[in-house]
Amino acid sequence: MATSIFCGFLLLLFLSCATNPTPVNSSDQGNSYLISSRLISRATAEKQSHFRFYWHDVISGPNPTAIRVAEAPGTNTSTTGFGALIMIDDALTTGPDMKSKLVGRAQGFYASAGLDKVGLLMAMNFVFTDGKYNGSTIAILGHNEVFSAVREMPIVGGSRLFRFARGYVQARTHSLEKTGDAVVEYNIFVNHY
Ligand SMILES: *[C@@H]1O[C@H](CO)[C@@H](O)[C@H](O)[C@H]1NC(C)=O
Ligand SMILES: *[C@@H]1O[C@H](CO)[C@@H](O)[C@H](O)[C@H]1NC(C)=O
Ligand SMILES: *[C@@H]1O[C@H](CO)[C@@H](O)[C@H](O)[C@H]1NC(C)=O
Repeated sequence: MATSIFCGFLLLLFLSCATNPTPVNSSDQGNSYLISSRLISRATAEKQSHFRFYWHDVISGPNPTAIRVAEAPGTNTSTTGFGALIMIDDALTTGPDMKSKLVGRAQGFYASAGLDKVGLLMAMNFVFTDGKYNGSTIAILGHNEVFSAVREMPIVGGSRLFRFARGYVQARTHSLEKTGDAVVEYNIFVNHY
Protein backbone atom coordinates (compact mmCIF):
# COMPACT_ATOMS: atom_id res chain seq x y z
CA MET A 1 0.00 0.00 0.00
CA ALA A 2 2.66 2.46 1.09
CA THR A 3 4.77 1.34 -1.87
CA SER A 4 2.01 1.97 -4.40
CA ILE A 5 1.35 5.47 -2.99
CA PHE A 6 5.05 6.17 -3.21
CA CYS A 7 5.12 4.89 -6.82
CA GLY A 8 2.09 6.99 -7.68
CA PHE A 9 3.82 10.02 -6.22
CA LEU A 10 6.93 9.32 -8.29
CA LEU A 11 4.82 8.90 -11.44
CA LEU A 12 3.08 12.21 -10.79
CA LEU A 13 6.41 13.90 -10.22
CA PHE A 14 7.74 12.39 -13.44
CA LEU A 15 4.68 13.42 -15.42
CA SER A 16 4.72 16.97 -14.14
CA CYS A 17 8.38 17.25 -15.06
CA ALA A 18 7.99 15.64 -18.45
CA THR A 19 4.91 17.51 -19.60
CA ASN A 20 5.62 21.02 -18.33
CA PRO A 21 7.17 23.07 -21.11
CA THR A 22 10.21 25.18 -20.28
CA PRO A 23 8.79 28.21 -18.46
CA VAL A 24 8.78 31.31 -20.58
CA ASN A 25 10.21 34.38 -18.87
CA SER A 26 7.19 36.60 -18.77
CA SER A 27 9.32 39.75 -19.12
CA ASP A 28 10.24 38.50 -22.63
CA GLN A 29 6.61 38.45 -23.71
CA GLY A 30 5.45 41.59 -25.47
CA ASN A 31 9.05 42.59 -26.08
CA SER A 32 8.58 44.07 -29.55
CA TYR A 33 12.21 44.82 -30.36
CA LEU A 34 13.48 41.24 -30.02
CA ILE A 35 12.83 39.90 -33.51
CA SER A 36 14.05 36.36 -32.95
CA SER A 37 16.36 34.36 -30.77
CA ARG A 38 17.06 30.73 -31.44
CA LEU A 39 19.53 28.07 -30.57
CA ILE A 40 21.65 27.68 -33.69
CA SER A 41 24.02 24.97 -32.61
CA ARG A 42 24.78 22.84 -29.58
CA ALA A 43 28.11 21.68 -30.89
CA THR A 44 29.80 24.82 -32.20
CA ALA A 45 32.82 24.73 -34.43
CA GLU A 46 34.48 27.55 -32.54
CA LYS A 47 38.24 27.73 -33.04
CA GLN A 48 40.96 29.52 -31.17
CA SER A 49 43.72 30.93 -33.34
CA HIS A 50 47.00 32.26 -32.04
CA PHE A 51 48.82 34.84 -34.16
CA ARG A 52 52.08 36.61 -33.45
CA PHE A 53 52.80 39.97 -35.06
CA TYR A 54 55.15 42.85 -34.54
CA TRP A 55 53.55 46.27 -34.29
CA HIS A 56 55.68 49.17 -35.53
CA ASP A 57 54.90 52.51 -33.93
CA VAL A 58 56.86 55.12 -35.90
CA ILE A 59 56.54 58.61 -34.45
CA SER A 60 59.80 60.13 -35.74
CA GLY A 61 61.24 60.82 -39.17
CA PRO A 62 59.61 61.98 -42.38
CA ASN A 63 56.99 59.19 -42.54
CA PRO A 64 55.47 58.71 -39.10
CA THR A 65 52.63 56.19 -38.80
CA ALA A 66 51.60 57.48 -35.35
CA ILE A 67 50.60 61.14 -35.16
CA ARG A 68 49.47 63.20 -32.22
CA VAL A 69 46.16 64.73 -33.26
CA ALA A 70 44.96 66.21 -29.96
CA GLU A 71 46.14 67.13 -26.52
CA ALA A 72 44.92 68.76 -23.31
CA PRO A 73 46.24 72.14 -22.08
CA GLY A 74 48.31 70.28 -19.46
CA THR A 75 49.51 67.35 -21.57
CA ASN A 76 53.04 68.63 -22.11
CA THR A 77 53.59 69.35 -18.43
CA SER A 78 51.92 66.13 -17.26
CA THR A 79 54.36 63.40 -16.18
CA THR A 80 52.15 60.87 -17.94
CA GLY A 81 51.30 62.95 -21.02
CA PHE A 82 47.70 62.80 -19.91
CA GLY A 83 45.30 63.88 -22.63
CA ALA A 84 47.43 63.13 -25.68
CA LEU A 85 45.55 61.40 -28.49
CA ILE A 86 47.61 59.62 -31.14
CA MET A 87 46.15 58.33 -34.39
CA ILE A 88 47.91 55.29 -35.82
CA ASP A 89 48.23 53.29 -39.01
CA ASP A 90 51.04 51.04 -37.80
CA ALA A 91 52.51 48.19 -39.81
CA LEU A 92 52.01 44.64 -38.55
CA THR A 93 54.78 42.30 -39.68
CA THR A 94 55.76 38.71 -39.04
CA GLY A 95 59.10 39.64 -37.47
CA PRO A 96 60.56 42.49 -35.43
CA ASP A 97 62.34 43.79 -38.54
CA MET A 98 60.19 46.32 -40.38
CA LYS A 99 61.31 44.65 -43.64
CA SER A 100 59.79 41.30 -42.65
CA LYS A 101 56.52 40.24 -44.26
CA LEU A 102 53.68 42.75 -43.89
CA VAL A 103 50.46 41.03 -42.83
CA GLY A 104 48.29 44.01 -42.06
CA ARG A 105 48.02 47.30 -40.25
CA ALA A 106 46.90 48.44 -36.83
CA GLN A 107 44.53 51.32 -37.47
CA GLY A 108 42.95 53.37 -34.72
CA PHE A 109 44.21 55.48 -31.86
CA TYR A 110 45.74 55.38 -28.45
CA ALA A 111 45.25 58.00 -25.80
CA SER A 112 47.08 58.78 -22.61
CA ALA A 113 44.40 58.08 -20.02
CA GLY A 114 46.38 57.78 -16.78
CA LEU A 115 46.76 60.86 -14.57
CA ASP A 116 49.31 59.44 -12.12
CA LYS A 117 50.63 56.38 -13.95
CA VAL A 118 51.24 55.97 -17.66
CA GLY A 119 48.30 54.04 -19.05
CA LEU A 120 47.00 54.12 -22.58
CA LEU A 121 43.52 53.53 -23.83
CA MET A 122 44.04 51.48 -27.01
CA ALA A 123 41.29 51.40 -29.61
CA MET A 124 42.41 49.80 -32.83
CA ASN A 125 41.54 47.41 -35.58
CA PHE A 126 44.04 44.89 -36.84
CA VAL A 127 43.27 45.09 -40.56
CA PHE A 128 44.65 42.07 -42.35
CA THR A 129 45.95 42.43 -45.89
CA ASP A 130 47.60 39.07 -46.37
CA GLY A 131 46.35 35.85 -47.96
CA LYS A 132 43.04 34.40 -46.83
CA TYR A 133 42.80 36.96 -44.01
CA ASN A 134 42.92 39.89 -46.46
CA GLY A 135 40.02 42.20 -45.58
CA SER A 136 39.24 40.61 -42.21
CA THR A 137 39.64 42.62 -39.03
CA ILE A 138 40.04 42.12 -35.29
CA ALA A 139 38.95 44.92 -32.96
CA ILE A 140 40.95 45.57 -29.79
CA LEU A 141 39.92 47.87 -26.97
CA GLY A 142 41.89 47.93 -23.77
CA HIS A 143 44.18 49.33 -21.14
CA ASN A 144 47.90 49.40 -21.92
CA GLU A 145 50.43 50.14 -19.19
CA VAL A 146 53.28 50.46 -21.63
CA PHE A 147 56.04 50.14 -19.02
CA SER A 148 54.77 46.76 -17.79
CA ALA A 149 56.40 43.66 -19.26
CA VAL A 150 53.16 42.07 -20.50
CA ARG A 151 49.96 43.97 -21.16
CA GLU A 152 46.74 42.13 -21.83
CA MET A 153 43.91 43.70 -23.77
CA PRO A 154 40.52 42.35 -24.82
CA ILE A 155 39.47 41.49 -28.35
CA VAL A 156 35.97 42.90 -28.57
CA GLY A 157 34.94 41.73 -32.01
CA GLY A 158 35.90 41.16 -35.59
CA SER A 159 34.72 40.98 -39.18
CA ARG A 160 34.66 38.46 -42.03
CA LEU A 161 36.80 35.48 -40.95
CA PHE A 162 36.71 36.88 -37.42
CA ARG A 163 32.97 37.41 -37.09
CA PHE A 164 31.87 37.00 -33.47
CA ALA A 165 35.52 37.17 -32.40
CA ARG A 166 36.42 37.31 -28.76
CA GLY A 167 39.67 36.76 -26.95
CA TYR A 168 42.68 38.71 -25.81
CA VAL A 169 46.04 40.00 -26.92
CA GLN A 170 49.29 40.17 -25.02
CA ALA A 171 51.70 42.98 -25.86
CA ARG A 172 55.41 42.95 -25.01
CA THR A 173 57.73 45.79 -25.95
CA HIS A 174 60.44 44.43 -28.21
CA SER A 175 62.39 47.64 -28.64
CA LEU A 176 62.02 51.31 -27.77
CA GLU A 177 64.27 53.89 -29.44
CA LYS A 178 65.29 57.25 -28.00
CA THR A 179 63.15 58.83 -30.72
CA GLY A 180 60.09 57.14 -29.20
CA ASP A 181 59.72 54.68 -32.06
CA ALA A 182 58.70 51.31 -30.70
CA VAL A 183 58.33 47.73 -31.85
CA VAL A 184 55.87 45.70 -29.82
CA GLU A 185 55.27 41.96 -30.04
CA TYR A 186 51.58 41.12 -30.07
CA ASN A 187 50.33 37.62 -29.34
CA ILE A 188 46.71 37.38 -30.36
CA PHE A 189 44.46 34.63 -28.99
CA VAL A 190 41.21 34.89 -30.86
CA ASN A 191 38.17 32.64 -30.72
CA HIS A 192 36.17 32.60 -33.93
CA TYR A 193 34.31 30.23 -36.24
C1 LIG B 1 13.28 37.21 -16.44
O1 LIG B 1 14.18 38.10 -17.05
C2 LIG B 1 14.54 39.19 -16.24
C3 LIG B 1 15.37 40.15 -17.08
O2 LIG B 1 16.40 39.46 -17.74
C4 LIG B 1 15.25 38.67 -15.00
O3 LIG B 1 15.60 39.76 -14.18
C5 LIG B 1 14.35 37.72 -14.26
O4 LIG B 1 15.08 37.18 -13.17
C6 LIG B 1 13.88 36.61 -15.18
N1 LIG B 1 12.91 35.78 -14.48
C7 LIG B 1 12.94 34.46 -14.54
C8 LIG B 1 11.85 33.75 -13.83
O5 LIG B 1 13.83 33.85 -15.14
C1 LIG C 1 53.19 69.88 -26.83
O1 LIG C 1 54.20 69.08 -27.39
C2 LIG C 1 53.94 68.68 -28.73
C3 LIG C 1 55.02 67.69 -29.14
O2 LIG C 1 56.30 68.14 -28.81
C4 LIG C 1 53.89 69.91 -29.61
O3 LIG C 1 53.62 69.53 -30.93
C5 LIG C 1 52.80 70.84 -29.11
O4 LIG C 1 52.79 72.03 -29.84
C6 LIG C 1 52.99 71.13 -27.63
N1 LIG C 1 51.82 71.84 -27.17
C7 LIG C 1 51.87 72.95 -26.44
C8 LIG C 1 50.55 73.53 -26.03
O5 LIG C 1 52.92 73.47 -26.14
C1 LIG D 1 43.52 42.19 -50.70
O1 LIG D 1 42.22 42.54 -51.13
C2 LIG D 1 42.18 43.72 -51.90
C3 LIG D 1 40.73 44.10 -52.13
O2 LIG D 1 39.99 42.98 -52.49
C4 LIG D 1 42.97 43.51 -53.18
O3 LIG D 1 42.96 44.69 -53.95
C5 LIG D 1 44.40 43.16 -52.82
O4 LIG D 1 45.15 42.85 -53.98
C6 LIG D 1 44.44 41.97 -51.88
N1 LIG D 1 45.80 41.76 -51.41
C7 LIG D 1 46.39 40.56 -51.36
C8 LIG D 1 47.79 40.53 -50.87
O5 LIG D 1 45.80 39.55 -51.68
